[in-house]
Amino acid sequence: MSVIKSTSYSVYVGEKSLDALNAFLKKASYTHYFLLCDEHTFEHCLPTLLFNCPILNEAEIIELESGEQHKNMETCMQVWGALTDAGADKKSLLLNLGGGVITDLGGFVASTFKRGIDFVNIPTTLLSMVDASVGGKTGVDFEDIKNHIGTTYEPKGVFVNPVFLESLSERHVRNGYAEVVKIAIIADAEFWNDIKQSDTTAHFYSEELITHAIELKNTIVKKDLHENDLRKSLNFGHSVGHALESALLKQKKDILHGEAVAFGIIIESIIAHRLKLIGKKDLNEICGYIDAIYPKIKLSAETKKLLFEYIFHDKKNEDGLLNFALPDGVGKYRLQSGITEEQISEALAMY
Ligand SMILES: NC(=O)c1ccc[n+]([C@@H]2O[C@H](COP(=O)([O-])OP(=O)(O)OC[C@H]3O[C@@H](n4cnc5c(N)ncnc54)[C@H](O)[C@@H]3O)[C@@H](O)[C@H]2O)c1
Repeated sequence: MSVIKSTSYSVYVGEKSLDALNAFLKKASYTHYFLLCDEHTFEHCLPTLLFNCPILNEAEIIELESGEQHKNMETCMQVWGALTDAGADKKSLLLNLGGGVITDLGGFVASTFKRGIDFVNIPTTLLSMVDASVGGKTGVDFEDIKNHIGTTYEPKGVFVNPVFLESLSERHVRNGYAEVVKIAIIADAEFWNDIKQSDTTAHFYSEELITHAIELKNTIVKKDLHENDLRKSLNFGHSVGHALESALLKQKKDILHGEAVAFGIIIESIIAHRLKLIGKKDLNEICGYIDAIYPKIKLSAETKKLLFEYIFHDKKNEDGLLNFALPDGVGKYRLQSGITEEQISEALAMY
């Protein structure tokens, strides 16, 4: 098992991570346990969790409906209500067992309930393992805008058991892998060289890959928890990616976060190339690699219109200027202010 030290908590990765959770629970003195899951993690992950941490048999289970469309304030009210009805107090612990929807929403509920109770994340998708469960960003979508309402509030521990990926669909594993590709391109050229050479998808499930991706994110978050500078690099692919995700969700079209981010990585890499930040060879490699893994996105006129509306709504913009995190050579990044509508249109036309 690897133990990655974060700001005030640790991330445990490996099959023994649930033993680490068991030890954490035995040592702590919580009055109540609340376990947040959705119908899929209830079915596929809860039995393993309870087997490894029998103390959680006494936990109150709060089961939510799965899906990004439920990551909203109505669902938060449902969870605040369940906590209140079951007599949760300041010394209660919330355990989030699920993908990024459960860890984002559960973290937000924990940060606001009675001005903040403790929570831990037990991520069960690749996306939540390598990204969403680490770093303290919590939140929900609001009026179709992704993560519009949220807090920065850190868990007391993150327990990552890759065995949970066995029941996850291949599409969802690819979804999480987009965040691995992103962090490799902006933070670790050697890692990017390694992954782009692997010609099977077996490494998507590898404990080593998951551990390294978490280490990279954790190093960045530890230096800049509140996203004043360095952490903004993690937004590579997300300015366009989040806008596409919001635009398609608004039209009730099927899209996963990572698929939208993969599209965003391509468009933002084209912009980086036009700005002479990355060469033609790197651009071709990035686009070719992503094209081979993710479905092509077809943009209707309506989607394109909404895409621009959401790009201009982005929390990362300041004084009406669009701020993008772009690769500056592979393995490095640059915060580029003043990206224009024309630059984005040009990149979309080249896609
Ligand atoms: N906080 C952050 O820093 C951060 C970073 C990246 C993404 N996110 C957020 O993460 C969310 C996406 O996360 P996600 O892709 O994990 O989505 P998700 O939570 O919706 O999970 C995807 C699907 O897989 C199911 N599932 C989960 N674990 C399973 C398992 N082990 N076996 C079978 N089915 C399982 C879920 O029920 C769901 O249907 C988005 O809302 C995004 O904004 C947050």
